[in-house]
Amino acid sequence: MADLKKRFWGQRTYCLITGASRGIGQKFATEFSRRFAANSLLVLMARSESGLVQTKELVTNANAGVTTKIYSVDLSKPDPELFLNMIQTSLTDSGYNPADFAVSLIVHNVGSVGDVSEVTSNMSCPEKWQEYFSLNLFSVACLNSQFLKVFPEGSVKQRTVVNVTSLCATKPFKSMGYYCTGKASREMFFRVLAEENPSLNVLNYAPGPVDTDMLLEVISSTGDADIKEMFVNLKKTETILTVDQTTERIIKVLENGKFESGQHVDYYDE
Ligand SMILES: NC(=O)c1ccc[n+]([C@@H]2O[C@H](COP(=O)([O-])OP(=O)(O)OC[C@H]3O[C@@H](n4cnc5c(N)ncnc54)[C@H](OP(=O)(O)O)[C@@H]3O)[C@@H](O)[C@H]2O)c1
Repeated sequence: MADLKKRFWGQRTYCLITGASRGIGQKFATEFSRRFAANSLLVLMARSESGLVQTKELVTNANAGVTTKIYSVDLSKPDPELFLNMIQTSLTDSGYNPADFAVSLIVHNVGSVGDVSEVTSNMSCPEKWQEYFSLNLFSVACLNSQFLKVFPEGSVKQRTVVNVTSLCATKPFKSMGYYCTGKASREMFFRVLAEENPSLNVLNYAPGPVDTDMLLEVISSTGDADIKEMFVNLKKTETILTVDQTTERIIKVLENGKFESGQHVDYYDE
């Protein structure tokens, strides 16, 4: 059982969130920071500078005691040196050391849905596979490794790693071949990480179907009529979740700490 001892929030935290310029990542950044103690440090990554600036403003309004550093970076190009440098400079530029924090938290939220117009029997282009996995797996593993170099075992009281996963990691959906294989492999990576590192709290969180740009992209681009209908119905019947709903849920999951490290926890789980 993850040893979060019911006191995850309210501590001095170093938190890195990828894909923080919009959607789920932006809401996580705002609501998580509200719960951090003063002198916490929040590091936000995505490509859109303007989106990151907007998230930073939301964070400052939520909790002025949190320092926010933004890095506009294309995470589809895994670069270990750059990743390590960004983490280290976020600390040195703020005048902090890893040991100043009680909690280190990395949230691998970045993700893309891939080409949903292509069926698996046509997925013959190695460059396309490479491009998809560069962003959704290779870069994630690379950033995670650099993060753990800066926050090794014993550096802080609690080290938590969150992977934003999906039902698609465990259940196949037509036209979503890249996405399903990407999420399945990424989730397994984090399960192995949990096995190898008993002192880490690893959470694979599936946020449910959430009303973001990603979901709109599936509706507009899927090559499968059933999948299109399923997502259109979710929106029409308003059973689709808001970013607020899924953020409230993960906040509770982290607060309660009742998950095995490496476990897949879905929004709809009890
Ligand atoms: N929405 C859903 O229904 C749903 C369901 C299950 C799981 N998820 C997962 O939740 C996570 C967030 O999804 P979302 O719905 O919030 O998606 P979204 O609205 O499309 O946001 C994706 C985020 O990733 C960033 N990003 C994309 N490509 C990038 C790149 N090359 N380099 C750096 N950053 C990049 C985007 O920022 P820039 O464009 O500024 O780079 C944005 O901040 C994803 O992992 C997704 O798979 C979503």
